[in-house]
Amino acid sequence: MEINPDKLSSKERYKLLIGSVIPRPIAFVSTVSENGVPNLAPFSFFNVVCFNPMILAFFPIRYKKGDELKDTVKNITATKEFVINVATEKLAKSVNTASGLYDYQVDEFEVSGLTKSKSVTVNPPGVLESPIRFECVLEKMISFGDDAGGSNGIFGKVKHIIIEDNLIDNFRIDENLLKPISRLAGSKYARLGEVFEIERPKV
Ligand SMILES: Cc1cc2nc3c(=O)[nH]c(=O)nc-3n(C[C@H](O)[C@H](O)[C@H](O)COP(=O)(O)O)c2cc1C
Repeated sequence: MEINPDKLSSKERYKLLIGSVIPRPIAFVSTVSENGVPNLAPFSFFNVVCFNPMILAFFPIRYKKGDELKDTVKNITATKEFVINVATEKLAKSVNTASGLYDYQVDEFEVSGLTKSKSVTVNPPGVLESPIRFECVLEKMISFGDDAGGSNGIFGKVKHIIIEDNLIDNFRIDENLLKPISRLAGSKYARLGEVFEIERPKV
């Protein structure tokens, strides 16, 4: 089958991408509104951009043209700060709960049953139950498209990192202890499966 994306509906494009680009890591992002209301939301359009400087990016998708922005985008636009908490198996239910469309005034730590952990370099708290937390300041926000399905790409510079001691040895993270979760299409998530190694070419 061959597909011209220009001929697809928005929904078809979405389904094709979220089913093909898998598994996607999950940034569990904490922010605080200008009025001090804490917010949490998961984003699986998420990855490493570079490590010198250390930049992470995630992509909140636009709902509809002219519609309100996601709370995460509103908060980062106003405060320029956020924490990316790594999503793990024990956080799975809370990650899913936090993806609900709650009122802007609702504290999503409370809704998700999670504990705020005071950050060292930014105002938004981290998720205590997450074993790796990246405190970030906004480096750039890049807008893609104007309609529903476009995004406000958030690029954050990492200012501080908190990692549970038992997970890290000489800067190597033990993935079996971390137990990260990832997102597939629809309501499907995945845990780490069988890990295999292949030596890199020596050239
Ligand atoms: C596992 C998971 C991953 C998600 N990834 C994204 C994503 O990459 N981009 C996006 O816009 N929404 C994503 N969502 C939906 C948002 O989490 C959802 O729109 C949320 O309500 C946004 O919250 P906010 O308004 O508090 O920022 C995801 C939802 C789940 C459950």
